[in-house]
Amino acid sequence: MTKTLLRGRVLSFHADPAETTDSHRFWENGAILVADGRILAVGDWADIRDPEAKEIDHRPHIIMAGFVDPHIHFPQVQVVAAWAAQLLDWLNDHTFPIEAQYRDPAHAARMAEAFLDQLIGNGTTTVSAFCSVHRESAEALFAAAEARGMAMLAGKVMMDRNAPDAVLDTAQASYDDSRALIERWHGRGRLEYVITPRFAITSTPEQLRAAGTLAAENPSLAVQTHLNENRAEIELTMQLYPEASDYLDIYDRFGMLGPRSLMGHAIHMNSREIARMAETGTRAIHCPTSNLFLGSGLFDDRGMRDAGVVTGVATDIGGGTSWSMLATLSEAYKIAQMRGQRMHPFAAFHWATRGNAIALGIEDRVGSVQPGRHADLVVLDPRATPAMRLRHDKVDSLMQELFILQVMGDDRAVVETYVAGRAMKAGAQPTN
Ligand code: GUN
Ligand code: ZN
Repeated sequence: MTKTLLRGRVLSFHADPAETTDSHRFWENGAILVADGRILAVGDWADIRDPEAKEIDHRPHIIMAGFVDPHIHFPQVQVVAAWAAQLLDWLNDHTFPIEAQYRDPAHAARMAEAFLDQLIGNGTTTVSAFCSVHRESAEALFAAAEARGMAMLAGKVMMDRNAPDAVLDTAQASYDDSRALIERWHGRGRLEYVITPRFAITSTPEQLRAAGTLAAENPSLAVQTHLNENRAEIELTMQLYPEASDYLDIYDRFGMLGPRSLMGHAIHMNSREIARMAETGTRAIHCPTSNLFLGSGLFDDRGMRDAGVVTGVATDIGGGTSWSMLATLSEAYKIAQMRGQRMHPFAAFHWATRGNAIALGIEDRVGSVQPGRHADLVVLDPRATPAMRLRHDKVDSLMQELFILQVMGDDRAVVETYVAGRAMKAGAQPTN
């Protein structure tokens, strides 16, 4: 068995800093022992050094769990920074035409590599991805993720109305294609299929019924969609489903709520919806750069958590403007500021790793640096740029170093990204 010892300043979360003071461990002269893609041991270098292990020395950089992005759109690699009014125009004018190209398997395969390159470059090791409506897009993404050994959650979007024909299926075809993809990919290696009705506007009641049927037939599968993102979206949604009491109630009626259900955005929520999300365990996913870029609104993280809703934080590429979970945490911090909610750097880094793994229900496998977990790791340099170095000269605590990374960092601060113990960004080599 080949063993690798990753040496550096190691940070590991075992609980949410927002809930307890005993949330993390930090080893200034630390190391992580890796074998067969998993973490064997973590601690002081002096305690766990192993003469048989190849050693990669990342000092003085910080090693922590790779970032988890619980809401991102694979076929929007080329949609970032599209100039549009707000959500519905942005979808119609830019997003749907570009997603139409993913019918072509060769294009989808090329873009899958570009998508994974961006994730790795930014230290993101697991995502939950919306693919295009075409089965080919999900095939391409799963195949590319499998080749890199990445843990990937993804699903083809189901959409059968209110969009151009080139990005529409039917209720029956979406059910059949999703089922075929589940059979082919779900549970294969580190891959997981997610039932993915895009949102209520682009699904007929028949299609949402098909999504609910898929969820009932496969109760362990996650479901992802969009909820209460934009005022005009909500108004149109309620016209399309007049019998529903509110937006969440639409998904509820079709059996789509539960601890494995992921609601992107969840900004303009009424108190009944918040209580129902808490009651059912349904997750709310904050998409800060997207919500600012599209002028959608300010997510109320504190309010959701106080009500008992589990939340995640995501890039939402390409409504989102940065692939970096660091930049995403920076915008989340500013939104919290606008709401008078203070976000501690430890809570932020926990959120982007173990917190998002909990939101996705995969915390037993990824999201923390603990023996038995997959060795999906990121190596971060808080002195990555001249401006960061200048600022770093004035700080003297880990908390402040993390805050520099959060507010000033992006892919330049990501020195290396490990997927199942393999160096995927720079290809770091052992020194012995
Ligand atoms: N609602 C439905 N589809 C989308 C999408 O692709 N991006 C965002 N931000 N919201 C959506
Ligand atoms: Zn989205």
